[in-house]
Amino acid sequence: MQQFISVEDVPSVPRIVGTALDYKKDPFKDKGLGANKTLGMIFLNPSLRTRLSTQVAAKNLGMEAIVFNIDKEGWALEMNDGAIMSGNTTEHVKEAAAVMGQYFDILSIRTFPGLKDKEEDYTEKYINQFIRYAGVPVVSLESATLHPLQSLTDVITIKERWQQPRKPKVVMTWAPHVRALPQAVPNSFAQWMNAWDEVDFVITHPEGYELDPKFSGQAPVIHDQRKALEGADFVYVKNWSSYKDYGKITCTDQSWMVSNETLKNTNNAQVMHCLPVRRNVVIADEVLDGPQSIVIPEAGNRVWAAQAVLSEILKHR
Ligand code: CP
Repeated sequence: MQQFISVEDVPSVPRIVGTALDYKKDPFKDKGLGANKTLGMIFLNPSLRTRLSTQVAAKNLGMEAIVFNIDKEGWALEMNDGAIMSGNTTEHVKEAAAVMGQYFDILSIRTFPGLKDKEEDYTEKYINQFIRYAGVPVVSLESATLHPLQSLTDVITIKERWQQPRKPKVVMTWAPHVRALPQAVPNSFAQWMNAWDEVDFVITHPEGYELDPKFSGQAPVIHDQRKALEGADFVYVKNWSSYKDYGKITCTDQSWMVSNETLKNTNNAQVMHCLPVRRNVVIADEVLDGPQSIVIPEAGNRVWAAQAVLSEILKHR
């Protein structure tokens, strides 16, 4: 694997899930793989899970991780080729990414969308410019439109918790939020569910919240949350802003919040969320504090996902 930006970079989803679950059983079995190697972790946006789990994963492989909060500590970067840099940007990504490529064996980066210009966000200009100029493998720590480390984690979490011969029914439900959020997590979750093909995957959201079809694929979309959740084995809860009315909040209907009542007609579904989650806005306390919530072990699995990805890249360097 040369980079990790989306599921399309992964030769086999079942194989990388197996690698991750092997690391969960024996975290230090490849302690020497990353010896004398350095991972650069570049953040333009806040993070708790992605930052810490990836650092732990690198450490488990004997690799050093260096974090750079470029939004606070770095020069303002120019992303546009041919720009006349007479404004606020100080350094072009051509130099910045290339220089970081001199220091690190793998470069990882988190860059959220602006949610103002759909085309700009969906061309993934920022991460693509780093891929173009860094000269070393690039790992997404969440980009404008995708969050593959989270989605790999989610596949791992479903895989380890489902032992029955039939496919589980996995329903991704939109839930309310007070702020306009990116579509990266739901796009990515849909993309991985479709590529994995070991689940019956259904999406439910209010009218107007359709995702980019390139990610949602052929998954049935049901606008009645109650109907969609019938018989669900896993409920994946996430807010996102509108793709159609780009970056806007067009529904504030609090009845979409996931509560015990919402889960009544599921198959005692296990409830997932990538975190952070706003309690009693997105998911009720009674669910997050109850037996159906698996959000903490899900977040724990972030380490094994990151370790599997880093190891795949290190093995092929
Ligand atoms: N789920 C997730 O990516 O968490 P952080 O934003 O805290 O990294």
